[in-house]
Amino acid sequence: MLVHGDNLLAMRALGERAGSPFSLIYLDPPFFTGRQHERVDRRRDPETGNVVRLMRPAFDDRWDSLQHYLGELGTRVEAARALLAPDGCLVVHVDPKTSHYAKVMCDEIFGPECFASEIVWRYRRWPAKTKNFQRVHDVLLRYVAKADVEPKFRQLYEPLAASTLKTWGDKKQRAVVGGDGRRTRSSRTEEATPGAPLGDVWEIGIVAPIARERTGYPTQKPEELLERLIRACTDPDDLVLDPYAGSGTTLAVAARLGRRAVGIDVGGEAVRVARKRLKAQGVRPYEERVVLEAPGPAKTKPGSRATALAG
Ligand SMILES: C[S@@+](CC[C@H](N)C(=O)[O-])C[C@H]1O[C@@H](n2cnc3c(N)ncnc32)[C@H](O)[C@@H]1O
Repeated sequence: MLVHGDNLLAMRALGERAGSPFSLIYLDPPFFTGRQHERVDRRRDPETGNVVRLMRPAFDDRWDSLQHYLGELGTRVEAARALLAPDGCLVVHVDPKTSHYAKVMCDEIFGPECFASEIVWRYRRWPAKTKNFQRVHDVLLRYVAKADVEPKFRQLYEPLAASTLKTWGDKKQRAVVGGDGRRTRSSRTEEATPGAPLGDVWEIGIVAPIARERTGYPTQKPEELLERLIRACTDPDDLVLDPYAGSGTTLAVAARLGRRAVGIDVGGEAVRVARKRLKAQGVRPYEERVVLEAPGPAKTKPGSRATALAG
């Protein structure tokens, strides 16, 4: 389902209709960059045959103050939390400029006991001109819905380090525990290892200019990032929510992995890009539009609906 409109209204309306059905809610808000972001649309000029770059407004990330930014984000985290299944989890994706504020804010909203992990997404990109260490990571804060309910979690694995392979080979090791309950040594088994349990630092490339998944939408996140979250935190058929859907990365990955998903975005350009992306995948999302007040005659395409979900 693809919802065009403000995510706060949409999430409140979803709660009224559906309760708390989401196993995973991923929030990738604007990052407090102080900029207006544009989408680069590459088209071939029919006359010259040359590729031309058209810039289209995508979303505005300018705020009165940091307090204003955090206030808007906090209200949305609270609204999202109300939609979480008891064994679900919520992930807020931010950058190091705001991640510490976001962490304290989420601790207050969920309770610090619901904090599950801080995932560092480390990527490589074209070096910036700066007399500083290059900024090459984002921060993903994961919170579970309830501290006293076991959250859904599927263990993922990463390849063993070369040094581990050299010392221990590619078979599972079993810990030998001493009388005090501590591991004294490891013993080899004959069972093949699936790898090392995935840690909380993820090396994933940013969406390259020539990548097939690239839509030109600014701040598009790599599918592999969402694939890890969705695989680890949901089962097939579960519901995933992305209130800042952008180019529809979460929806595209969820559909590919057999999960059901709801994406919300306030921007028309985002909704167009996400719709096209899903269509290319053979998915035709059910669409709704969220408006502040009951509108005049609905302007919609066949197959979609305009609804005043909240007043
Ligand atoms: C960082 S981008 C998300 C990028 C997305 N994860 C992707 O992979 O393409 C943030 C998105 O949030 C949307 N947005 C910002 N404020 C919103 C609001 N109040 N309600 C709904 N969407 C909003 C913007 O239009 C923008 O598309």
